Amino acid sequence: MKKQSNKMWGGRFTSGPDAIMEAINASIDFDRKLYVQDIQGSVAHAAMLAEQGIISKEDYHEIEKGLKIVLQEITDGQFVFSRQLEDIHMNIESRLTELIGPTAGCLHTARSRNDQVAVDFRLWVKRQAEKTAEEIETLIICLLNRAEEHTATLMPGFTHLQIAQPLTFGHHLMAYVEMFGRDLSRVRNAIERMDESPLGAVALAGTGFPIDRFTTAKMLGFREPTRNSIDSVSDRDFAIEFLASASIVAIHLSRLAEEIVLWSTSQFNFISLSDAFSSGSSIMPQKKNPDAAELVRAKTGRINGALVTLLTIMKGLPLAYSKDMQEDKELVFDAAETLELSLAAMMGMISNLVVNAVAMKRATELGYSTATDFADWLVRALGLPFREAHHITGQAVALAENKKCDLGQLSLSELQSIHPEITDDVFQYLTVEKSVESRTSYGGTAPKEVCRQILYWKKRLFTV
Ligand code: ARG
Repeated sequence: MKKQSNKMWGGRFTSGPDAIMEAINASIDFDRKLYVQDIQGSVAHAAMLAEQGIISKEDYHEIEKGLKIVLQEITDGQFVFSRQLEDIHMNIESRLTELIGPTAGCLHTARSRNDQVAVDFRLWVKRQAEKTAEEIETLIICLLNRAEEHTATLMPGFTHLQIAQPLTFGHHLMAYVEMFGRDLSRVRNAIERMDESPLGAVALAGTGFPIDRFTTAKMLGFREPTRNSIDSVSDRDFAIEFLASASIVAIHLSRLAEEIVLWSTSQFNFISLSDAFSSGSSIMPQKKNPDAAELVRAKTGRINGALVTLLTIMKGLPLAYSKDMQEDKELVFDAAETLELSLAAMMGMISNLVVNAVAMKRATELGYSTATDFADWLVRALGLPFREAHHITGQAVALAENKKCDLGQLSLSELQSIHPEITDDVFQYLTVEKSVESRTSYGGTAPKEVCRQILYWKKRLFTV
């Protein structure tokens, strides 16, 4: 008869609590992703040990040769991972021992899994953050190109999702360039801070062996070694910062995704998405749904969730290492992969979407979008205080609403019945083209100004 380990859940397990222990303790199922970094770290460490005379040169060559074989085996999918060996570090070391014998044991001199995992994960996150920065930059370039095509394409601007004032589509896209531009600098900023090697912190206190941490830092492409061995193995703020910047990117992506969803409805009809980034309905043959945009919008939840999870894992942990920190990886891997996919999908949608300039312009003319221009004219031409101009314009809008016409379709005498000094000069300021053209303040929506913004970003991105 099968021995039950526990009345509540034992049926699922073949043996007692150690199966449960293995299940909760082993990280190999996910930290195998760090194999390249783990081997990189080990080679650097062994080379330094040999350089410092801590191990012999022969032993180093043996170790390096063996690690290369392990790397090849894992890359080729021939490596047999074992859960009993817990994690990537012990899986690799055990295989190295099989390959080169007891010499493998020299590798762990002046090293602990604590600084080993810290350096592996930092290398991984740093590389991933660099990739993220490149992907954000590519999205920015894609938005810049589309903005350049549409510096004079009229569209309504919204506040409270109510038509507010005329804008250009190019200007609207450039708003996202600014957001992703800040995201880019946030990611780069985080990279700068994580650019320190924890290798050589050992378990938490450093070592009595004459190691050279500056050499290993350099070999691994870090700017310098970390300064405090306790901190080196205790913190995961580099991963938190990566997730924090990723979360802000995701929020920006989700807002753009939401706008794409709105714009592609038949009510708005501002854009049509390419077939490549839409899907159909299984029952309604006429449907073309913006699934990719909806998924980008939704995936933000996963990325933000990862940030909150890691913050919660780290909260209240005493110094130095605790096994809690093993939980840092899966969510970072998932968030990174999710962000990559979302950025790629957004890039695809933005570069392929077709703008319906006629519908955009038509919508711009709704909702008395040039009412502010009317008020501005009263200030400029009649010298009225803006508050009074606002009030008069309100009356004109009410009159137009009553007559179910545009502001510009009211007659001069109707306007003069509201304020006698109004002249027909005002009419030329009530078109959406004029409105947009007039917004030449720094950062404004005038095509000239939008071109200047585009130029700024081109210079910023393309001049070194
Ligand atoms: N798998 C572990 C992790 O990811 C490696 C470090 C283990 N260190 C220890 N003292 N048990 O955190």
